[in-house]
Amino acid sequence: MSEIGRVRELAERLARAAGAIQRDRYETELVVRTKSASIDLVTEVDHACEALIVETLHRERPDDAILAEEGGGDDRPGAEWRWVIDPLDGTMNYAHGYPRFCVSIGVQRHGAPCVGVVYDPLLDELFAATRGAGATCNGRILRVSDERELGRALLATGFAYDVHKSFADNLDHFANFVKRVRGLRRDGSAALDLCYVAAGRFDGFWELKLHAWDVAAGNLIVEEAGGRTSDLSGRPPTGDGRETVASNGHLHEQIIAVLKS
Ligand code: IPD
Ligand code: CA
Ligand code: CA
Repeated sequence: MSEIGRVRELAERLARAAGAIQRDRYETELVVRTKSASIDLVTEVDHACEALIVETLHRERPDDAILAEEGGGDDRPGAEWRWVIDPLDGTMNYAHGYPRFCVSIGVQRHGAPCVGVVYDPLLDELFAATRGAGATCNGRILRVSDERELGRALLATGFAYDVHKSFADNLDHFANFVKRVRGLRRDGSAALDLCYVAAGRFDGFWELKLHAWDVAAGNLIVEEAGGRTSDLSGRPPTGDGRETVASNGHLHEQIIAVLKS
């Protein structure tokens, strides 16, 4: 097996193992703390999932760099392989017992995204992509939707944890879209939102102020499913997630036009 094949296999194994922790502890009594704001939560399960992933990587791939949301990684510049990990995407949902959360693992080689894996443990859906080899969900090939009319589109978005205090709160964009599209969702897991664009369940998604770990896997999965990702101006994504737009491609320019209006 090629090295990229082994990396993909390991990413899938780690996502399933962390997902099993999430499934086991779902709707149990949790220690919940806050981070950057009173609405920015972290639970013991976020930490347990990250520890499992990072410790395994240290053991099995000691030369690789790791960027992990809760800070357990070791992001060494110059490493050939870099793992970008959101151990639990959708923590607020998880803490409230709302069944929409996942593990997201993106891998870059020489700085370019090459593998993405997102696992939803409750639905047992494993979304995965390897650069140039397409995207799948539980082995089934993923394809974005064919929708070309914004008025018939189902879009998704989200709000950053500084929404109570910041003027750049996404509410202007939300209001603009809600008057133009068939439906708009705020479902609380950016990584799954991206996978749902890849699966044709959503026709598009945008969000401000995300982070690299939210989009590292999902952006690749969208692209490999035939979709398009960009910043708010339509330029290729920078990888830091600060401006994220994803779509089936057909609707991309229309979405960008509304974001600019
Ligand atoms: C959050 C989720 C949410 C998005 C937030 C993210 P977290 O990630 O992806 O959907 O709106 O901006 O921070 O904190 O649950 O890993
Ligand atoms: Ca996240
Ligand atoms: Ca997280």
